[in-house]
Amino acid sequence: MRLQIALMAMLMGAMPAAVAGNGWITADEVAWRAMQDDAAIALRGSSPAGLYLLELDLDQVGRLAATLHGKLRHCGGFMLHESEDEARLALAGTGPQALPERARPSYRLTQQAVVAPALARIDPAKIAATIMRLSAFPNRYFSSAQGVEASDWIRLAWEEIGRQHPGFSVVQFAHAAYRQPSVIATILGSDRTDEVVVLGAHLDSISIAGSAAPGADDDASGIAGLTEVLRTLVAGKIQPRRTIKLIAYAAEEVGLRGSQEIAKAFRQARVDVVGVLQLDMTNYKGSDKDIYLIDDHTDPAQNQFLRALAAAYLPALTVGSEKCGYACSDHASWTGQGYAASMPFESAMGQDNPHIHTRNDTFANSGSQAAHALKFTRLAAAFAIELAADSQ
Ligand code: BES
Ligand code: ZN
Repeated sequence: MRLQIALMAMLMGAMPAAVAGNGWITADEVAWRAMQDDAAIALRGSSPAGLYLLELDLDQVGRLAATLHGKLRHCGGFMLHESEDEARLALAGTGPQALPERARPSYRLTQQAVVAPALARIDPAKIAATIMRLSAFPNRYFSSAQGVEASDWIRLAWEEIGRQHPGFSVVQFAHAAYRQPSVIATILGSDRTDEVVVLGAHLDSISIAGSAAPGADDDASGIAGLTEVLRTLVAGKIQPRRTIKLIAYAAEEVGLRGSQEIAKAFRQARVDVVGVLQLDMTNYKGSDKDIYLIDDHTDPAQNQFLRALAAAYLPALTVGSEKCGYACSDHASWTGQGYAASMPFESAMGQDNPHIHTRNDTFANSGSQAAHALKFTRLAAAFAIELAADSQ
């Protein structure tokens, strides 16, 4: 179909031959400036807020991501949309609003007796082992065979840990457009089963040059955190009232593709997602404070809840706030669907891990230990336990 359109367009001379279309992205000003000389990209619109609507071949998206990462490191962003309609909605800033029927959770802390021992059980050596295992894949690129193997490895690892818990199950979520599946583990809630707390991280990696992409910090650290949260929930035989889902997203590095498809599917099925936490880059301590809460594309009330959790359960830690300036990780996919999402981040912007998206994003370059990731893993466990027990 795409070929036909391209051929017709070429015959009629109606379209620049380089852009056959089918991929729609929105980009901010900085990202647009970095790609405007690219002959494979056509400008189709812009908004007063400084967003640009671009069309390109879908198979150019990976290359574009790599080029942008190379040029900007991460001071600019773009988002891939499923259709032109959707891209135009995003451009207009009129994505779906919050689901009206859901009352705010109380965000009260009532689970001290469960949370404290659960956090004490979290083992930095186990987090380290998962980071090492995942970063040993030569790369986890979304369209590569190893990217599929990494997804399979996570499914098996979660299955092994979770089988001790009666409410546990794990599935791979297949994406029609590429081979790497996301992984979704579920601990079924006891009585508020339909209300869901989501913890996520991305399983794919990318490299701007060459094929080695260990992605130890970005984002094996996040997946390792989820894995250790699962282990402590299972070891403590913790039975949440609400359902807890852990999601390892495919294809984050190429436009949040995996998480967008999942968040959209949840929204379409009207799943009552109470809150979402994203762990992306947690093991490189580049700044004075321990945790920086990203305060754009996130939910202010839930961010306050995270501050309260840190104050109550991790009182030695210092918490700051930061902005990505764009939809920098999978939390933005949930925010885009009207759900409450947050992302605690490893450092202030500009002081984060300088090795990401290169062959040097190794465990050694995060200090060969998981001391920093440990803090985020504990915060994530406290978030899951308290929010899944919330009595409102
Ligand atoms: N982990 C990064 C996002 C990030 C990097 C946040 C540095 C803060 C500081 C993520 O995996 C990523 O690379 N995101 C892309 C955007 C995405 C939409 C392709 C980026 O930042 O370029
Ligand atoms: Zn990245």
